[in-house]
Amino acid sequence: MNVKAAFLILFVSALGAAGLAMRGEPSATVISVDAGHPGAAISTSMFGIFFEDINFGADGGLYPERIKNRSFEFDEPLAGWHQILAINAGGIDSPKGSMQIRTDSPLNRMNPHYLRLTAENAGFGISNTGFRGIGVETGAEYRFSAYVRAGVANKLRATLTDEAGKEIGSAILTGFGRDWKRIESVVRASGTSEHAQFNLFVEQKGSVDLDMVSLFPVDTWNRRPNGLRKDLVQLLHDMHPGFIRFPGGCIVEGRVLATRYRWKNTIGDIAERKTIVNRWNDEFDARPAPDYFQSFGLGFYEYFQLAEDVGAKPLPILNCGMACEFNSSETAPLDQIHEYIQDALDLIEFANGPATSPWGKLRAQMGHPASFHLNMIGVGNEQWGPHYLERYKVFAAALKAKHPEVELVVSAGPSPAGEQFDYLWSNWRKLKADIVDEHYYMSPEWFRSNAGRYDHYDRSGPKVFAGEYAAQTSGVAKSDNRNNWLGAISEAAFMTGLERNGDVVRMASYAPLLANVDAWQWTPDAIWFDNLRSYGTPNYYVQSVFANNTGTRVVPVSGAARDGLYTSAVLNDGTHEVIVKAVNFGSAAAPVEIVVKGMKTQGPAKGTTLAVSSLAAENSLEHPKSVAPEYGSVRFESGTLAVTLRPNSLNVFRVAVR
Ligand code: AHR
Repeated sequence: MNVKAAFLILFVSALGAAGLAMRGEPSATVISVDAGHPGAAISTSMFGIFFEDINFGADGGLYPERIKNRSFEFDEPLAGWHQILAINAGGIDSPKGSMQIRTDSPLNRMNPHYLRLTAENAGFGISNTGFRGIGVETGAEYRFSAYVRAGVANKLRATLTDEAGKEIGSAILTGFGRDWKRIESVVRASGTSEHAQFNLFVEQKGSVDLDMVSLFPVDTWNRRPNGLRKDLVQLLHDMHPGFIRFPGGCIVEGRVLATRYRWKNTIGDIAERKTIVNRWNDEFDARPAPDYFQSFGLGFYEYFQLAEDVGAKPLPILNCGMACEFNSSETAPLDQIHEYIQDALDLIEFANGPATSPWGKLRAQMGHPASFHLNMIGVGNEQWGPHYLERYKVFAAALKAKHPEVELVVSAGPSPAGEQFDYLWSNWRKLKADIVDEHYYMSPEWFRSNAGRYDHYDRSGPKVFAGEYAAQTSGVAKSDNRNNWLGAISEAAFMTGLERNGDVVRMASYAPLLANVDAWQWTPDAIWFDNLRSYGTPNYYVQSVFANNTGTRVVPVSGAARDGLYTSAVLNDGTHEVIVKAVNFGSAAAPVEIVVKGMKTQGPAKGTTLAVSSLAAENSLEHPKSVAPEYGSVRFESGTLAVTLRPNSLNVFRVAVR
C-alpha cells in the first residue's frame, strides 16, 4: 500500500465516524488525552531488542560467515567438510588424497585443531556445505581467506558451485610457505544460489595445513571486514531500538558452567576466539541441531558496535555463577564467585575505560578508542532461588562500590507469576534492586487481559524490564507457534499498558529476535531469514511501530483497556507532539473521537496503521509485507480527531502541540 492510498483510508475513516453515528450505529467512544497534565518522565529508549544466538541467529545468520566449522573446532572436527569424490577423468589420473585433523603446532592455543590435506596428485579437493547451504548473489564479492602452511604444494583454488554443480566463482591462493600465514583473495559470484557449495582444491601434489577457512561477503553492514549481514541489520536499524540486550537468554548461563558465555573469549583476533558448543544444539528433540556451535565471530566488541550503529544502548547480560536452572543448575561456590565479578568489572572497563586502561586499550586496538557508554548490566538471566540472591548480593556490593553509575538488571525468574516470582520480587524490593527482568511467553489472551498488569505496581520500588516476551499461539516453546496477527495485535494491546506505565516499566523487548527458516529451534521469532532473504513478522512491525513512536512523558488517557480497545498516550518534549496509540481488537470497526485537552493542537495528525482483517495473517519470504505499517495524515480539528479504527488494528496518531 502506498502512502497516498493510506492517506485515503485514514481520511475516509475520519468521515466514517460521523457517518456511522448518523445512521444510528454505535456512537464514537471518546478517548480523552489530558496533555495539560503530563505524568512521569519516561524513556525514549523504552522499546528495544533482545538478541540471542538461537535459531542460527549469529553463526548462519547475523554473522554472515559462509563456511561452517571454519576452524575445525566442532566436537566432530570435520563437521561440514567433505572430500570431493574423484570423478572419472577419462584416462587422466583422478585426484586422490586424504584429510587429517591434527593438533601439533596449531595456529594458536585457543584454536588447537587444523586440517591437513595431503594431495597425491593435483586437483584433490574438499567442500563445505555452509549453514544449510551457502547464499551467494550474482555480482557480489566474497572474501576468501585462510591460514595456510605448506611444504611443497604452493597453490590452492577455491570455487563456488550452484545447486546444479555449475561453477559460479573462483579464486587462486598462492604465496604461502612453511609457517602459518593468512592469505586472502576475492571471489566474484557470476550466479545467484541459495544453496551453493564451497570447494577448495590443492593444485599441486603435496600437503597443505589449513585453519580459519573463511568465505565472507565484502558488502557487510558499513562494509566492515568481519561485519554483519546487511539486510538483517537494516531491519534492526529501521526499528530504531532503544537498547540491545545481548548475548541472551539461556546462552549466557550454559547448560553447565564450562559452556557458559565468557565475553573475554569473544573479543580480539577472530582466530583466537574459542569455539564452543551452542546450548541450543540439542535442547529440543523435535528440532535437533548437532552442528550448532558458537564461533564468536560476532562477539562483545561487535555487539557494542551494533548497538552504536543502530542508536541503541548496550545491555549485556552476564553469568553470575549459575548454569541454566532448567538444565544442570550447576552453581559456582560463593568463594569462587570472584572470577565472575571480575569479568563484570573488566567488561565495564572494556566498554567505557580510557584507552590507557588495560581493557580500554584492547577496545581501542580493535578500532574504538571512544567509550561505548555502557550503563546497565544484567546479573544472570532466568535465575531463581536463594542461591541467586546470595550471588547477587556479592555482585552488587562489588559493582556498586566501584561503578555506582552502572545500573544492575536482575531476574524475576522464567514466569510472570508464581512462588518463585513472588519470592524474588519481595527480595528485590528489600534489596532495592535497580531493574527487575520479567519474562512472559504466554498466550495471546494473556497478553490482552494483562494490558493493565502494571497499573498498580509500586511506583517507588525497582523498575521493570519486560526483558523477554512473545505471544505463544500454540504453547510455550511449541514448534507450531505462529508469528501471526493474533499474536502480534495481542502484544500491541499489552504494550499500550507498558507505555502507560512507562514510569515503572523502563524497557521492553520481544524475544527471540532472529530465526533461520532452515535451522530454527524456537518459534515465534521477530525476524525470519534464509540464506539470501529476510522479512519482519507482524510482531516485528508492532515492535517497530512502538519503538518509532516514543515519548518523554506519559499522558493520562481514558478508555485504557476495555471492550477490545486499548490505548496509551505520550508527550514527546523533543518533537513537541502528543502521540496516541489505539488498538482495536475485534472484527468490527470502532468509531472513536480522540480529544486532546490542555494543549493547543496543530493539524493534521500523522497516522500509522497496522491492520489486517484476518488474525491468522502472516508475512513470509515470498510476501514479506502482507502485514506492514501504512502511513498517512488525518484531519485533526479543534483538538479532536474523529476516526474509525479498522477491525483488528494498531493505530498511532502524532499530533503537533504547542
Ligand atoms: O528466548 C528463548 C529463551 O527463553 C531464552 O533463552 C530464555 O531466557 C527463555 O527461557
